Amino acid sequence: MSELQTVENMVSITIDGKEYKAKEGEYILNAARANDIFIPAICYLTRCSPTLACRICLVEADGKQVYSCNAKVKEGMEITVDTPDILAERRAMMEVYDVNHPLQCGVCDQSGECELQNYTLELGVDSQSYSIPDTKRESTDWSSVLHYDAGLCIVCERCTTVCKDMIGDAAIKTTKRGGEALDKSWKDNMPKDAYAMWNKLQKSVIAPSNGTQNTDCSDCGECVAVCPVGALVSKDFVYTTNAWDLKKIPATCAHCSSGCQIYYETKPTSIEDRTEKIFRVTNEWNYVSLCGAGRFGYDFENKTATKDETKFRNALDAFNQAKVINFNSLITNEEAMMLQTLKDKMGFKLINREARAFQRFLTLYTKASGNSLYSLDFKEVMATDFVMSVGTSLRNDNPNARYAFNNVQKMNKGAGLYFHPVGDTLVPTFGKTVETFIHKAGHEEAALLLIIKLFADADKLPSSVKDQLDRDLVATLGGDTAKFEKSFEKMMKKKETFSLMVGEDLYFHENAENLAKLIAVLEACSDVKVAMIPPRTNSLGVALICDLDDEAEGYTIGYNESGDFRISALGDGDLDMPAMNQQEGTLTNMHKRVTPTNAALDYNGYELNDIMNALECGERETISWTLKLPTVKGFKAVEFDSLENHYSNDGVEHRGYLLETTSVDVDEVNVENFDDSNVLEGDIAYRCNPQRQFNDFSDKAHQIFEGFGLYASPARAEALGSKVEVEFDSKTITFDVIVDDRMEGDIVAIPDFKSAENVYELFGESRFKSVIIREV
Ligand code: SF4
Ligand code: SF4
Ligand code: FES
Repeated sequence: MSELQTVENMVSITIDGKEYKAKEGEYILNAARANDIFIPAICYLTRCSPTLACRICLVEADGKQVYSCNAKVKEGMEITVDTPDILAERRAMMEVYDVNHPLQCGVCDQSGECELQNYTLELGVDSQSYSIPDTKRESTDWSSVLHYDAGLCIVCERCTTVCKDMIGDAAIKTTKRGGEALDKSWKDNMPKDAYAMWNKLQKSVIAPSNGTQNTDCSDCGECVAVCPVGALVSKDFVYTTNAWDLKKIPATCAHCSSGCQIYYETKPTSIEDRTEKIFRVTNEWNYVSLCGAGRFGYDFENKTATKDETKFRNALDAFNQAKVINFNSLITNEEAMMLQTLKDKMGFKLINREARAFQRFLTLYTKASGNSLYSLDFKEVMATDFVMSVGTSLRNDNPNARYAFNNVQKMNKGAGLYFHPVGDTLVPTFGKTVETFIHKAGHEEAALLLIIKLFADADKLPSSVKDQLDRDLVATLGGDTAKFEKSFEKMMKKKETFSLMVGEDLYFHENAENLAKLIAVLEACSDVKVAMIPPRTNSLGVALICDLDDEAEGYTIGYNESGDFRISALGDGDLDMPAMNQQEGTLTNMHKRVTPTNAALDYNGYELNDIMNALECGERETISWTLKLPTVKGFKAVEFDSLENHYSNDGVEHRGYLLETTSVDVDEVNVENFDDSNVLEGDIAYRCNPQRQFNDFSDKAHQIFEGFGLYASPARAEALGSKVEVEFDSKTITFDVIVDDRMEGDIVAIPDFKSAENVYELFGESRFKSVIIREV
């Protein structure tokens, strides 16, 4: 049962004689944590399945010993955290964990924040009762970012669990290591749970699931984050610093619209060079999961910026003669507010392609649904038990959307429907009841119509939609109707909560209006609720704050984009701006939440607010603009310094605030007829980034390696050769061909993460484009 269903129902329990409230159906461990009570636990991860690998979370519940991470609370349950037997078990477990654990705490990367150290001390382990000859366990690099030291591994399986249940790659598994067998006499001479745990520990080690030395995964680094000891560490971080030397700066990741909670961890570069440097990014991994860009793509700061007065005067001249500001969504809400102020005061046209497409779509949705914002956030998607996805490349567009789709399958005994023109071999592996439709580019309306047919109350539907449901939509989408009907029946068993995620393909679609109306109809006539993926980092914030233009001509200021005068946080402009890790401000993420981010690194140049002040429309400082964000669009008039940025022990997010959704009156929705002949023919290119690249900043980071090129399925890549020419309407470009092992079919993907390549211009108002591809 999902969290959405249980949240209202509380039960009373007692822990160590004191009464507490807990969510019905909650595990004892989580109920205790929510009430700030400590129960030792190593292997359990909230949001993932209990694996019972460590067994240390033993408690007594109504007189019986249970594992608190997989026993659920019941009304009136009496729980005792420590009994003499349980304390003996826990002590024996910690002694066992310490057997043959290398004594290298002095240099270990985890030292100071190691759970093995902490629990050994917490449980007062001051002597060792157990021993066994050790077997050599090698250190190895699993990928360009993952380093695994098997000697330090305590086989708690947190890494394998997060990779399967949250990330969906299932790229690592527990495997045999050939350790010496335990002497049978231990079985009768030591606490039984400690024996069972030791037996497994002695036999096991972690390895890539594909049988090779390499993980071949999305390199998200969540396995590194959750590892309680120094066994899994980022390759770059190994032996670079002690954890206690690092300063934690709470921030918001700015690579995509997930806007995940992160800490930039910094300290001076070296003894000689006292410049602050980011050594790693960490996260509250029990409540938020990062992707590879968020974790490893952090060194994108604008290092060389100085206050060059000549450049600043040139910038003012440029602003005084400019007609247009061309920018993208990698800016804060405060900066967006400044640009809107410039428009109001100086009449600039504001061009931001991706935010404009999303803004148009949101407006169309509001007109049809009466709601200023989409219904669900992605945590609520995670709590449903039937999830669908239309109009987004789930593996590449947004990690949180993909994790939510996967997690629903793993945790809620869920089902999933995935509609997309580009085949992907990863999505079907998320669960046994995932059905995929690899449909034609241009058939997105058919996907929404099918969902309406499957879930809506036909009596409530407007006639313009009802009339379109007689056709065989499954066949239109490339499926087998009889087969699908059978599997859909199975998928629907015991399902109660339904979600649909939609993405950028719909915003950049020639029938966007019809698609927005279909989404509104679906929500109005069924139990399915919708979450939208904003195209880039702060597209939602920009779409709400700025009055964006469709076209503009004349002298242009480019902000991290092309222009006659370029202000840039990339260090390549006519005037420098601070990068996201060098500035304070807020971002609006896809969960409809306005979250604060802080400066982790020094910045010595000018900021946009300095230009605003020189143009006589500035504020005292950048964060003075936080108070000025438009309340009519759902923002709140709160001071930046009062915004929190953390999670509490019950998993509640205390990060900034949620946008308010407002309502407007709507008339009956009139949906146009879907024309199934409206499809792209010939070679088709899809504007889509590889999974760890989002923008120029991820590209600048030294640990993100995915290149700019034409991505193709293995079969298509073989047919194309190593280099191709792609002819667009306006121009022909040569690309290296890069194989994407998980892609299927003939559509090729062309990334937009490098702004200098102007890929948005090549694709125009669509994400799919008919092109001519020639081998070079
Ligand atoms: S590598 Fe770390 S997280 Fe994985 S099993 Fe070993 S100790 Fe646990
Ligand atoms: S980096 Fe991410 S995808 Fe790769 S093994 Fe670790 S958790 Fe799994
Ligand atoms: S935390 Fe419950 S068995 Fe490990």
